[in-house]
Amino acid sequence: MTREKPATHWWRSAVVYQVYLRSFADSSGTGTGDIRGLMDRLPHVVDLGADALWLSPWFRSPMHDGGYDVADYRDIDPTFGATSDALALIDRCHDLGLRVLIDLVANHTSTDHAWFRAAVGSPPGSRERQRYHFRPGRGEGGEDPPNNWISAFGGPAWTRIIEPDGTPGEWYLHLFSEHQPDLNWECPDVVTEFDDVIRHWFDLGVDGIRVDAASALAKDPDLPSVDLDLSRGFIPRDWPGTPFWDVERVHDLLRRWRAIADAYEGNRCLVGEVVVNTPDRFAAYLRPDELHSAFAFDLLHSPWDATEMRAAISRSLAVVEKDADNPATLTWVLSNHDEIRHVTRYAPTVARGGDCTVALDIGLSRARAALLLVLALPGATCLYQGEELGLPEVLDLPAELRRDPTFHRTAGAVLGRDGCRVPLPWSGDRPPFGFTAAEPWLPQPADWASLTAAAQRSEPTSTLALYRDALRVRRRLLGANDTALRWRESSPGTLVFDRPGALTCVVNVGAEPVVLEAEPVLLSHHQDDPMLLPPGCAAWLGWQRTDEDGGAPPSPAGPASTV
Ligand code: GLC
Repeated sequence: MTREKPATHWWRSAVVYQVYLRSFADSSGTGTGDIRGLMDRLPHVVDLGADALWLSPWFRSPMHDGGYDVADYRDIDPTFGATSDALALIDRCHDLGLRVLIDLVANHTSTDHAWFRAAVGSPPGSRERQRYHFRPGRGEGGEDPPNNWISAFGGPAWTRIIEPDGTPGEWYLHLFSEHQPDLNWECPDVVTEFDDVIRHWFDLGVDGIRVDAASALAKDPDLPSVDLDLSRGFIPRDWPGTPFWDVERVHDLLRRWRAIADAYEGNRCLVGEVVVNTPDRFAAYLRPDELHSAFAFDLLHSPWDATEMRAAISRSLAVVEKDADNPATLTWVLSNHDEIRHVTRYAPTVARGGDCTVALDIGLSRARAALLLVLALPGATCLYQGEELGLPEVLDLPAELRRDPTFHRTAGAVLGRDGCRVPLPWSGDRPPFGFTAAEPWLPQPADWASLTAAAQRSEPTSTLALYRDALRVRRRLLGANDTALRWRESSPGTLVFDRPGALTCVVNVGAEPVVLEAEPVLLSHHQDDPMLLPPGCAAWLGWQRTDEDGGAPPSPAGPASTV
């Protein structure tokens, strides 16, 4: 049955475009992107057909973690502009029909935040210290960290301070870098402050909030050591419940924030970054009075393998399908500012001319196919800036230019996330490709000339053109359609499913071409015979009734076959 989506549930099928501000467009000649630069380039996002923007943090910050270390939650960092620019951006977006989501970094502040400075300057046990997790160290002189927790960015999760009297003193907890002290959500000051921060931004007109590191927020107040093999690294997906991740108390906070969002007009929404151990734990974050949506990372973490991809999709969908009355949904995502760009992730290493190379051409084709896949799934989709240009990960950034704390905290053992944060190429045939009038904060590869937005805009077979076409077709066919996905039997290496009433999606994840047996082909991204789908390609076919719909027998995509 084709269900109609109430207009109030815009977030159920929105295409959200993630802007990583410092790498989007620089208007002021600093080499770092800014709000005015984004405003100048908004036509790009509108032309693409996105419904909303999600802005990575734009708050005042010393930028030890690209703005995920916030020094003032109500102020805009001067590198990005002023509050008046932020307000102008929100207005302009609304005029253009784009909603605006901002990032709420509530697990930790920056060490530059007034609260943390006050805490370091106050005695142990003071109210100022209670806003964070300060503890004495273990060992005779307190020289060992209070417990064995580790940081997601490498190394221990604790740093020792020097007390105001100049002696080594207490330790503070930071699940991320030492510049990001974790807040203590048992402390009422913290709870009320963030209520106020959320209202502040809703009052200024933002339409939604991405809840950063949602599963990290609450901690077991006893902060006990864990009995886990932490030598494998920080992998909460594999941990069955720890005192520092996915702690039950987080749900009280999410319910609180949901009530705040619901008290506003305009269908404000909360989208969470939730990484947990089981589908049931994930489902808890999407209860009707918690998050409206959460990123579906399972598919992002799947290799290019039909069985694994189908399993990831089914597992994720099962979470939101089990309660038909709960409108909460998934936000599919292939790339973001934390992950290796998917063109590179999907690129196999192949032997060519005696050398082993990363086959980016294959990676790009698969990335385009993956776009048609995610856009056809029930739920929202989040695109990461630059994926519409088919940008690969930049793997060869010099060590001295890398900024990601992960790189530094692991002494270079983990390359980190700078390679997906390289500034966008807009135009021209050499760096800085229209991004800035100065030196970009991270260098762009010299060979990105053919990937610029300008080069691709008028090229009908470009990645940019495919994104534009796909978003347009999706809006027409799936905009109001709220049907569940229905898998079709298909040969190994293929994914074939219907969105009844709208389309059939066929993805060739295998190594051989697949014959399509039904027309019309609504959209595909290969140039040859439209009825023959090469490896690493996908197509959307016109939907036809099946026996299940009480209509004609199935034919789109037929049983996939090889030639
Ligand atoms: C989230 C963000 C990431 C950041 C971390 C700490 O995972 O996506 O970029 O480093 O939280 O705030």
